[in-house]
Amino acid sequence: MQASEAFTGSSRRTLLILGSGGTIAGLAPRPGDTLGYQAAQVGVAQLLAGFDAPPGCELQVEQVAQIDSKDMDAAVWLQLARRCAEGLAHAHVQGIVITHGTDTLEETAYFLQAVLAPSRPVVLACAMRPANAAMPDGPQNLRDALAVAAQPGARGVVAVCAGVVHGAADVRKVHSYRLDAFGSGDAGPLGYVEAGALRQLRAWPQAAPDPGLLGRLPAQPQAWPRVELVFSHAGASGASVDALVRDGVQGLVVAATGNGSVHHALEAALLRAQAAGVRVLRASRCDQGQVMGLPGDALPGAGALSPVKARIQLQLDLLAA
Ligand code: SIN
Repeated sequence: MQASEAFTGSSRRTLLILGSGGTIAGLAPRPGDTLGYQAAQVGVAQLLAGFDAPPGCELQVEQVAQIDSKDMDAAVWLQLARRCAEGLAHAHVQGIVITHGTDTLEETAYFLQAVLAPSRPVVLACAMRPANAAMPDGPQNLRDALAVAAQPGARGVVAVCAGVVHGAADVRKVHSYRLDAFGSGDAGPLGYVEAGALRQLRAWPQAAPDPGLLGRLPAQPQAWPRVELVFSHAGASGASVDALVRDGVQGLVVAATGNGSVHHALEAALLRAQAAGVRVLRASRCDQGQVMGLPGDALPGAGALSPVKARIQLQLDLLAA
């Protein structure tokens, strides 16, 4: 492996590999172990041991975090985003790979695309089986991610899992167990990695960069706007919304049914919240499709954003306001 432990800024074409934890770095219990499965145990340098860099590239490795991604938070997002921005400020950094847990990967992907809008690739790599499994999927996923990051012309934040490349806006975890755990909904995958080569089907994620956005994010995550998710379902009530408003919430995303419909009791509470100055967004709890805005909608729709991505977008909108 041509890898170093810290980003030094050499002049070769570099792929920067940032470790953040997940099952790709996890360990299943061995006979006699008293602890159960644990994510985020193996360092990213160790995950890359024995790997060759893609032709013409060198790897530089840095452990940014070591967490189970269910515990992802704004502090780790900020660290990842800053390290990406610092790396991409060097012209010889061709791309970045981030090893990440699958559980909140889609949220990190959306956040990084929103705050970086990178003109080079930032590729999230993950695994469904731990590093010590009999047949781990992490090594192949990592190789595929390196191939995508080394691809000339690649740009934007994407995720690679089981040979499928997903764009940040579309990617969702769609299966709790199988190796091919992600989907891109109606949009479909961005491409496939086949024997180390990218077969691209759609354009790379593009967004108008907001150059100041990352710098404007408060350094203290407690200073970020508080945006919570509520769920519309049979028998829903407005109790949780009323409690959140009393508790000072600044934004609410409702995971609404179908095309953004909301149980009447919950809707009444959301309208009260909106009237009290809380920003409210309706996203659909359906895996595909979008919330079609209709004239006269009292609560704005989140379009094709999933509820968890709408939550991030609302936080960023509130920060920009
Ligand atoms: C995690 O998200 O960190 C644990 C689960 C996984 O990576 O599949």
